[in-house]
Amino acid sequence: MSSYAIIAEELRKSFNGFEAVRGVSFKVRYGEVYGFLGPNGAGKTTTLSMLTTMIKPSGGRGIVAGYDVVENPVEVRKRIGVVFQDPTVDRDLTAWQNMMIHASIYGIPRSDAEKRARELLEFVELDKFAHKPLRSYSGGMIRRFEIARALLAEPEVVFMDEPTIGLDPQARAKVWEVIQELKRQGVTVFLTTHYMDEADRLCDRIAVIDHGRIIAEGAPDELKSRVGGDTVYLRAIDSDSAKKLLALVSEYGEAKLAADNVTVVLVASNAPSKIPQIISSAERAGVKIVEARYNRPSLDDVFLLLTGRRLRDEEGDWRIWGRLVRSRLGR
Ligand SMILES: Nc1ncnc2c1ncn2[C@@H]1O[C@H](COP(=O)(O)OP(=O)(O)OP(=O)(O)O)[C@@H](O)[C@H]1O
Ligand SMILES: [Mg+2]
Repeated sequence: MSSYAIIAEELRKSFNGFEAVRGVSFKVRYGEVYGFLGPNGAGKTTTLSMLTTMIKPSGGRGIVAGYDVVENPVEVRKRIGVVFQDPTVDRDLTAWQNMMIHASIYGIPRSDAEKRARELLEFVELDKFAHKPLRSYSGGMIRRFEIARALLAEPEVVFMDEPTIGLDPQARAKVWEVIQELKRQGVTVFLTTHYMDEADRLCDRIAVIDHGRIIAEGAPDELKSRVGGDTVYLRAIDSDSAKKLLALVSEYGEAKLAADNVTVVLVASNAPSKIPQIISSAERAGVKIVEARYNRPSLDDVFLLLTGRRLRDEEGDWRIWGRLVRSRLGR
């Protein structure tokens, strides 16, 4: 068995001459939660569709659970579970009925299917609603049902395309819990998202995708550290101490005095490991720090750094960004 659950080598896809995916390469280990983070139209669904054998690549190679997606699509399909971007459920049927139809498509014997369906519906906390038509389900319940269904045939790799799109924060949190539990159980998950908080929270590693290309890859913390550092705020007891502190911390990064004249703002990589050093050297110099805190950069800052654009240009995000910039400038 290959030690990788997914291998993509220079995967490409063109639609009538338009290159939606322009040569993406990455490897996902078994047990890893791997995220594809990118804005609308980046090529996330197209990549996922090639890896799940829904569409044929125009070029390159995809190996999933040890099988080539073009040469052995049937073997690949036996080993994967998929949650599509748009829900694919029969809303007139109950969760249970939908599960049994899925089981028969996969050729799972009835008694095994029933046992597993019971366990999975309980796992996603839908056991009480198993015999209600999906019409009566909320968006979040439908998503959880689809995850349970994707697990029915005990797949080696689960693909989820925007598992929480359009859900309210509470429903998203419940879906996250399910994915986190899968991660604890060692299930390999490939998920796409354009929510940076989702990628940050759930994924071991992330590929940032834009215009059909991977523009960065790594663990969330690794990617965020590329922004150049965390913003550290150190409040001194008075403005004289703040001036001394400013001179003292300049060796750790880019530092300046905030408008209040008592807070020193420092941009430094890996702030959590530096704050204790700063505090002890300040103490030695007789400078009293009354408050220390730091902000880590977000994945959205990473995207901005790489592309010059925001990942999402919704008003809320702009407001957060504005706050960050203002606080960085000490206003
Ligand atoms: N069947 C198709 N025919 C023509 N163009 C397509 C087709 N499927 C996707 N595209 C185009 O390819 C690009 C990538 O689409 P894709 O659906 O992979 O993006 P995405 O990252 O999943 O975006 P979203 O966040 O909106 O789901 C887009 O410009 C899209 O319009
Ligand atoms: Mg998509």
